[in-house]
Amino acid sequence: MHKLTVKLAKRAYPVFIGVKLEKLGQSVKCYGFSKNTLVVADKNTARLYLKNLLMSLKSAGFNAASIVIPAGEKHKNIKTVESIFKAAVKARLDRKSVIIALGGGVVGDLAGFAAATYLRGVALVQVPTTLLAMVDSAVGGKTGFDLKEGKNLVGAFYQPRAVWIDTGTLKTLSAEHMANGMAEVIKYGVIKDKYFFGYLEKNISKLSEEMLSKIIYTSCRVKAKFVEKDEFEEKGVREILNFGHTFGHAVETLHGYSGILHGQAVALGMNFASSLAVKLKLIKPETKARIKNLIIKAGLGACALKKFPASKVISVMARDKKAREGKLRFVLPLAIGKVIIKSDVPEELIREVLK
Ligand SMILES: NC(=O)c1ccc[n+]([C@@H]2O[C@H](COP(=O)([O-])OP(=O)(O)OC[C@H]3O[C@@H](n4cnc5c(N)ncnc54)[C@H](O)[C@@H]3O)[C@@H](O)[C@H]2O)c1
Ligand SMILES: [Zn+2]
Repeated sequence: MHKLTVKLAKRAYPVFIGVKLEKLGQSVKCYGFSKNTLVVADKNTARLYLKNLLMSLKSAGFNAASIVIPAGEKHKNIKTVESIFKAAVKARLDRKSVIIALGGGVVGDLAGFAAATYLRGVALVQVPTTLLAMVDSAVGGKTGFDLKEGKNLVGAFYQPRAVWIDTGTLKTLSAEHMANGMAEVIKYGVIKDKYFFGYLEKNISKLSEEMLSKIIYTSCRVKAKFVEKDEFEEKGVREILNFGHTFGHAVETLHGYSGILHGQAVALGMNFASSLAVKLKLIKPETKARIKNLIIKAGLGACALKKFPASKVISVMARDKKAREGKLRFVLPLAIGKVIIKSDVPEELIREVLK
């Protein structure tokens, strides 16, 4: 078992990696939560893991209710949030209750938002079951949902009280979703850690369970460091985690949040940012090639993209939360392990790369 702490003064919390789902009840028993709890799962995580988790909570003395939401980004909307609120009322949660998110980033973001706002805030425990959620979305406290007009446009910063990672749940995850999570793992290498990037280059196609645990640990540690320095994304530090996301989010929005996974979109975004960086002479083509090759090795090389006019892509990117006064901001690589934020990239260059 690996454990790390996200050091956020009063809001500090532990991330447990390599623990068993069945032990969660015992572990959170000492947190002082009310008996009435609500587990949020989606159709798939409910089928696979809900029974065990509920049993664990019940045997630790909780009255554990659950809600099963539809799976997928398409349902990351206000309607699903409302259904979680209604389940919270039915479960008689009070201000000392905890909501437990059992699933990938979609469940985590929605249940997290519900926890942040129901009764002006009840506790939240994240139990991520996809690689993407384990290495990224469960840590850091971003919660929210999509509007038709743009991804994650509504949300709240709301830290969980604990993150409980049972890597055994990855055994049922599809290869496509494993690759999806690897996009965020690769991102950490590019933005912060050249040795980690090198390790991935060597090992990504033949990972043992122990190696995977180590990768999850390193990813959570990198993410935690950025979050600790800039919890509310005000200082231009946390924004670095957005490498690959300006273009990636636009791709997801333009596809109506279906047909392309978040990690696939981020992989495209990392390629896009690397191409911009080459054009701006920030990196050599060889560095771009290393990033691209690792993306391909991770199984993120091919996805069916629809075509959109450059002006449309640019206007969606300008609506991104990170854009300021309509000015696009890109996180661009300077080397493997080092990036900068640029807001003065000429539009002709963006258009050229989009082509
Ligand atoms: N909050 C953040 O900081 C943050 C960071 C990155 C991404 N995100 C968000 O995360 C979301 C993507 O998350 P995701 O890729 O985990 O998607 P997801 O939650 O849709 O999960 C992917 C699919 O895998 C299924 N699944 C989950 N766990 C499983 C398991 N163990 N075995 C089999 N199937 C399983 C789900 O039911 C779903 O069909 C996006 O909405 C993105 O915006 C948030
Ligand atoms: Zn992401």
